[in-house]
Amino acid sequence: ADEPIVLGIETSCDETGVGIVRGHTLLADTIASSMEEHARFGGVVPEVASRAHLEAMTPTVESALAKAGLRFSDIDAVAVTAGPGLAGALLVGVAAAKAYAMGLGVPLYGVNHLAAHVAVDQLEHGPLPKPAIALLVSGGHSSLLLVPDVAREVVSLGSTVDDAAGEAFDKVARVLGLPFPGGPYIDRAAREGSGTAVAFPRGKYDDGTLDFSFSGLKTAVARWVEARTAAGESVPVHDVAASFQEAVVDVLTRKALQACARHGVEDLLIGGGVAANSRLRALAQERCDAAGVRLRVPRPGLCTDNGAMVAALGSELVAAGAAASTLEIPADSSLPI
Ligand code: KG4
Ligand code: ZN
Repeated sequence: ADEPIVLGIETSCDETGVGIVRGHTLLADTIASSMEEHARFGGVVPEVASRAHLEAMTPTVESALAKAGLRFSDIDAVAVTAGPGLAGALLVGVAAAKAYAMGLGVPLYGVNHLAAHVAVDQLEHGPLPKPAIALLVSGGHSSLLLVPDVAREVVSLGSTVDDAAGEAFDKVARVLGLPFPGGPYIDRAAREGSGTAVAFPRGKYDDGTLDFSFSGLKTAVARWVEARTAAGESVPVHDVAASFQEAVVDVLTRKALQACARHGVEDLLIGGGVAANSRLRALAQERCDAAGVRLRVPRPGLCTDNGAMVAALGSELVAAGAAASTLEIPADSSLPI
């Protein structure tokens, strides 16, 4: 095993993720999350996240090394999420990565968080077909990407013009009185409801773009629930959850398959926290089968933010002979793909 060992650090949102990868082999994936501290605020609080990253960084790196049975001197390169994400949170990871790279005398690779969400699938399903289409859906992003080569070229085909898909799940969950983050609760509630009970609007369904819009849907659900409540009627939570969820996954899968068709691509990858959604996975499989498209979805633990995805992309960059970053690379909260 002469392949280089890459340490990956992820701090773009609320998880402090540290992953260690050799080639396409995952050696360790350790996560500390500050979600419990945010839950009572109903959303991620940037200042709280930054402080939590600072406290968790050293122990998380040490625990990843211990899990992999490695020492610092075994690390051949350090990769870190340089953006996009929360500015203060990114800064903690980037500063730590610079310190580790400098201290160990190994190259540093600043990587794009979205590309890392794509690269992680290779740890589970092997080399990504070139090209592939990737649908990334989480609390912070909803994007369709054309991926000719994850280490060299990732092209944005479309993204949300307002809320991210996960954000819509979280806001609708709040309206329905479900805990934060609400995606998994909606998923569960929807299993006992009907996706056709309420006809909620599907934003940008037929607009010809590969962009998304979820804020109109979120507002429509809130208005519908308010009207029922004002009329003194009970809210059928299961049906509303299922109908809302159906509207989201209908648009996501429709546009993902349109992207495949337009670009003549036969491999679709879905990643990000919302990729854990059971109805999204089922409908995507159904529509991919009908269209002759192969579907790849990493296991849920690799879909949500983690350090392994950063190490996976770093490993890909090393293998591609990409130039390392300088120790001056900034954390860039709006880093473009
Ligand atoms: O990728 P992730 O862990 O963090 C971000 O980068 O945002 O994604 C978190 C998002 C949250 O909005 C959460 O509600 C959503 O993913 N999520 C789900 C499910 N599991 C997590 N949404 C729908 N269904 C799920 N089963
Ligand atoms: Zn993410």
